[in-house]
Amino acid sequence: MSASQAAKKQGGLAGVIAGESAICTCGLGNGLNYYGYAIEDLARNCDFEEVAFLLQYGELPTSKELESYKEKIIASRALNENLKAVLRAIPKTAHPMNLMQSAVAALGSLEPESDDFKDQDEKIIRLLGVLPSVLCYWHHYANFGREIDFNSAQKSIAGYFLEKLELQAPSDEFIKAMHCSLVLYAEHEFNASTFTARICASTKSDIFSSVAAAIGALRGPLHGGANEAAMHLIEGFSSVEAAIDGVNKKLENKELLMGFGHRIYGTGGDPRNALIKVWSKKLGGDTLLFKVSEAIENLMKEKKPNLPPNADFYSASAYYFMGIPTDYFTPIFIMSRVSGWCAHIKEQRANNKLIRPSSTYIGPEPRNFIKITQR
Ligand code: CMC
Repeated sequence: MSASQAAKKQGGLAGVIAGESAICTCGLGNGLNYYGYAIEDLARNCDFEEVAFLLQYGELPTSKELESYKEKIIASRALNENLKAVLRAIPKTAHPMNLMQSAVAALGSLEPESDDFKDQDEKIIRLLGVLPSVLCYWHHYANFGREIDFNSAQKSIAGYFLEKLELQAPSDEFIKAMHCSLVLYAEHEFNASTFTARICASTKSDIFSSVAAAIGALRGPLHGGANEAAMHLIEGFSSVEAAIDGVNKKLENKELLMGFGHRIYGTGGDPRNALIKVWSKKLGGDTLLFKVSEAIENLMKEKKPNLPPNADFYSASAYYFMGIPTDYFTPIFIMSRVSGWCAHIKEQRANNKLIRPSSTYIGPEPRNFIKITQR
């Protein structure tokens, strides 16, 4: 059997139960729940910080707890001079996902977690506060040579990020849409990046290394990078007709349609899609881009009913309608998913066992060694 045949047989660990977790159910009855709360309830009613608190501590906050949590996140926004220097050294040609990963790795050196992990909750709050600042500071410095400050009257991560990106106050509608998207992206069971974070944490590594590793896994277009790839797909069509024609051709050529399909949800569909679609429609329902998106969705429903759109498909247009550059779609995913990764890192640490599976060997039989001079 060839290596590729073997990999196909193993199927990317599809269907393998790789551990226990109390954080999230994904795909049970097609639903998505964080600590037992339905994603529909959370997305329609909660600011992202409420959900981040839930993921960090296992319970929804009271108003007082939420207020204090938000204050701590706000106090964690500023970058110190060393981190700024790291960011200034990264050129504008860098992929923002690599930038974010470098910043998190640098934080591990500049503000290390203690060896006994007693400060892990503080570090989680630091990450929640600082990640929007990292992206916005670098965006303005790399592109325009200007340094931004981190003062803002915006109390939420959603509002703060939008304000610092544009350097002007965002509309309430954009802030609400951003909250919804951050809530939807916050947690998703043993997806590739979360599992990466857990593997790293299982070696008793620090929280910054675990999050940096997870960012690497999130970057790829089969995972978090799909929202950017979906945007490229949608904006590549200049009319509904061109979209129908183009998608048909892609299907004939057996190309992947980015933003469709999901390992866990399968035919039932990703419950996050309908929730973010509401916002995409509200923000840009009368635009060609939205009409093209719906045309692609409808065509896929007809031609590939087993491949419904996932959360990334309408997140792409929702972000576009908020004026966010496409390269920043997946970094926004980080700002949200860091809450889920850290919940899993805490859970892994609380009952740790090194994650170290085995493989089926398909290499050569044992053979005689020949010295380099005789080969
Ligand atoms: N477009 C066209 N064909 C597809 C697609 C798609 N988006 N997704 C799956 N297929 C086909 C695939 O080619 C394969 O066909 P065949 O059996 O003829 O070889 C069949 O469907 C089964 O697909 P698979 O790749 O074995 O399924 P998987 O569970 O390994 O992959 C997936 C899941 C999400 C990676 C895949 O559906 C995909 O690549 N989708 C596009 C990328 C994407 O949108 N990713 C975001 C996932 S959701 C957000 C997140 O978790 O980050």
